[in-house]
Amino acid sequence: MNAPVPPAEALRRSLAELLDGLPPRQAATAVERLIANYRGDTPTHTPILRDRADVIAYAAYRMPATFEAVHTALEALAAAVPDWTPRSHTDVGGGTGAATWAVTATWPGERGVTVLDWAEPALALGREIAAANPALTGARWRRARIGADLSLDDTDLVTVSYVLNELSERDRAALVDAAAAAAPAVVIVEAGTPAGYARVIEARDRLVRAGLHIAAPCPHSAACPIEAGKDWCHFSARVTRSSLHRQVKGGSLPYEDEKFSYVVATRLPARPAPSRIVRRPQIRKGQVLLDLCEADERLARTTVTKRHGDLYKAARDADWGDAWPPPAPPA
Ligand SMILES: C[S@@+](CC[C@H](N)C(=O)[O-])C[C@H]1O[C@@H](n2cnc3c(N)ncnc32)[C@H](O)[C@@H]1O
Repeated sequence: MNAPVPPAEALRRSLAELLDGLPPRQAATAVERLIANYRGDTPTHTPILRDRADVIAYAAYRMPATFEAVHTALEALAAAVPDWTPRSHTDVGGGTGAATWAVTATWPGERGVTVLDWAEPALALGREIAAANPALTGARWRRARIGADLSLDDTDLVTVSYVLNELSERDRAALVDAAAAAAPAVVIVEAGTPAGYARVIEARDRLVRAGLHIAAPCPHSAACPIEAGKDWCHFSARVTRSSLHRQVKGGSLPYEDEKFSYVVATRLPARPAPSRIVRRPQIRKGQVLLDLCEADERLARTTVTKRHGDLYKAARDADWGDAWPPPAPPA
């Protein structure tokens, strides 16, 4: 029997097949229009994804990156709550369902999955792509508008990825409150920009006020030590570039780095990282410099040298976004 295809690969293949069905210039033109749209003032009144070509372009261009970013956030949740597996998942503003794929990559197997979005073409394409993932064949794709009256059915996990950006302040608050009321675990991902980080912090504060605690990336649930306007907390995920990326963006690199900000909040007993590496580690001769967000609510730089033995080896392997020190391997 053939080994099952990992979700990231199954998603890539499925998107490549869809693109094959479009005239080459059409997808690139749709992506260029979408990029212009997202750069400008994102409309909050009408769906941006209007038809199938828009949605294929969006999916092919953005889903692999969204998948990697959400997957990173979910792995941080799984590390903080290791004995837990969500039995149900609701993806709000889920579009073509990238986050549902990421959930199946973190916790394989079937569960009750619901994707809510107001854009019917996105839901339809999401359902079509999900046919390539056995864990998603039972997913429900429902049309729903995020607004002040939003209420969500109880579920184990709510994901909200790259959605807050498209909502008014009032609707962002309604969504975060509804997620906090519906689920013991909420994962929010936004672009890794100062504005994306600001929306994540706004949501983080609201989730803490609703009684959840922070499982990742922060080592604590107190206020973020970053001074607003001076810096922003974000991470990076490596994404294999598709031929569509090369067509739209040019360049020859086989990958690009998706920058994202995120927060994972939960009511479950969680063990957040002792501290988190918040910049790319700087490797010097005989030493590694790590910028950490620490459990005592401070940002601090630590230097790990050869004299630290195994810890030095771990520091050389450490990556931006990792917990520090790394968790001990299972006995
Ligand atoms: C940038 S896309 C992200 C889609 C998906 N979560 C992902 O990460 O790939 C934003 C999604 O939010 C949906 N959306 C925006 N405003 C909405 C609203 N008021 N009600 C429901 N869905 C909304 C859009 O239709 C779109 O699918």
